[in-house]
Amino acid sequence: MERSGTGARLIIVCGLPSSGKTTLAKALESRLRAVRFCPDEWMDALSLHLYDEERRGKIEALQWKFARELLALGLTVIIEWGTWGRSERDALRLGARALGAAVELHYLSAPADVLFERIQRRGLEKPPIERDALSRWFETFQEPTPEEMALFDKPLIADLTSS
Ligand SMILES: Nc1ncnc2c1ncn2[C@@H]1O[C@H](COP(=O)(O)OP(=O)(O)O)[C@@H](O)[C@H]1O
Ligand SMILES: [Mg+2]
Repeated sequence: MERSGTGARLIIVCGLPSSGKTTLAKALESRLRAVRFCPDEWMDALSLHLYDEERRGKIEALQWKFARELLALGLTVIIEWGTWGRSERDALRLGARALGAAVELHYLSAPADVLFERIQRRGLEKPPIERDALSRWFETFQEPTPEEMALFDKPLIADLTSS
């Protein structure tokens, strides 16, 4: 059976590009004094191409290694990788629980047209993400079901506009 600890907490922020993961993760980071792991920021700092999936995978593996070390120390960690697949989210949840940590899942979504408009306005990816690619990604993305959400702990901060 999965078990939640008291201090250590993993917060997973999940969603497609421009769904608002980094925006939410930064707000939670400062409110909860957490350590935030964003692959895009590391890739940018290392002058890597944001579409380099092989190196992105290696960076995420490295971030997960550090994240587990921090969780073992009883800290709060935020992972904002996108986590498009259920199996990826399962692995994070079970890995964190094995360390005695609580685990939250925050899922962000918006219609494709809204995401596409934000992607263009933000101008982070070069070349920009194409509309067709975004439509395909909607098919690939495994939206968390209520049954999956129920496997996670109650968020410490569910609504940033409150309190
Ligand atoms: N809830 C929101 N409503 C409107 N715009 C948002 C919202 N969240 C984020 N944005 C804007 O959308 C863009 C993408 O947000 P970001 O947090 O970088 O997304 P992600 O990290 O998921 O790619 C940014 O320009 C951000 O200011
Ligand atoms: Mg981001």
